Amino acid sequence: MDDKSPEFIPVALSGIEDATRHHGFDMASEYKTGTLLRTLAASKPGGRFLEVGTGTGLSAAWLLDGMDKNSHLISVELDAEVSAIANTHLGDDSRLSLVVADGNAWLRETNEDPFDLIFADAMPGKYETFGEAWSLLKPGGLYIIDDMLPQPNWPDGHASRVAALLTNLDERVDCHLTRMAWASGIVVVVKK
Ligand SMILES: C[S@@+](CC[C@H](N)C(=O)[O-])C[C@H]1O[C@@H](n2cnc3c(N)ncnc32)[C@H](O)[C@@H]1O
Repeated sequence: MDDKSPEFIPVALSGIEDATRHHGFDMASEYKTGTLLRTLAASKPGGRFLEVGTGTGLSAAWLLDGMDKNSHLISVELDAEVSAIANTHLGDDSRLSLVVADGNAWLRETNEDPFDLIFADAMPGKYETFGEAWSLLKPGGLYIIDDMLPQPNWPDGHASRVAALLTNLDERVDCHLTRMAWASGIVVVVKK
């Protein structure tokens, strides 16, 4: 076995990729992360999904591809321009709500019911306001993070934040997790 690219990719993906290149957005999720998100999304029929850090919508496209018709995804993004790209390509999907907001403020203030899966792909919900995101996860819910292996675009000092987050997760007694040194470095956490 190898980890070749999937044969079937979300219909919207190539259009989003073109727009992402044209915009110059350089924080895009990779295919491997996408396939994992799609697979995990399919495990939650009728699920409630949250993404923090929509970007141009690549990971949202993979999540939507795995979700069934009764599931719903809220995806929060600070940058209105990149969220607009996601909206152009995915906005017709009624299972998706795109929110332009600061993720920290949204996580602190939301009245949303708990989620079945949270993909925390920005500082909020991951390195900041982790507790708020965690409290929005159902027991049995999945908390997914990527970019946990050294990345070329990490700012100075980021490695120590990554190490601290991993330690924090390792020390929790209310979850099980698997670290995967695969793709950009993914941790899959299930809340007990
Ligand atoms: C790693 S990228 C997300 C990539 C995206 N999930 C994808 O599939 O390509 C992180 C995103 O978080 C956004 N972001 C940065 N600060 C934020 C904040 N305070 N609240 C919400 N989003 C934020 C950035 O604009 C960027 O689009």
